[in-house]
Amino acid sequence: MKVRVDPDRCQGHTLCAMRAPEVFELSEIDGHASVADEDVPADQEDQVNEAVMSCPERAIAIVST
Ligand code: F3S
Repeated sequence: MKVRVDPDRCQGHTLCAMRAPEVFELSEIDGHASVADEDVPADQEDQVNEAVMSCPERAIAIVST
């Protein structure tokens, strides 16, 4: 599974980082999320799916499985 955050959609709601703190990083400048590594470890996939569903801006996309 690969995941990306759309920087144009992200508004810094931080829910993604609460659901999957090992995958999503929040900018100290604007609080917007990014991923250091698009490849999601198998043991983080459930958390990332929860993060996708939790984002009110629909800013997180799973780009392949
Ligand atoms: Fe941004 Fe959505 Fe996370 S708005 S900080 S990607 S919950």
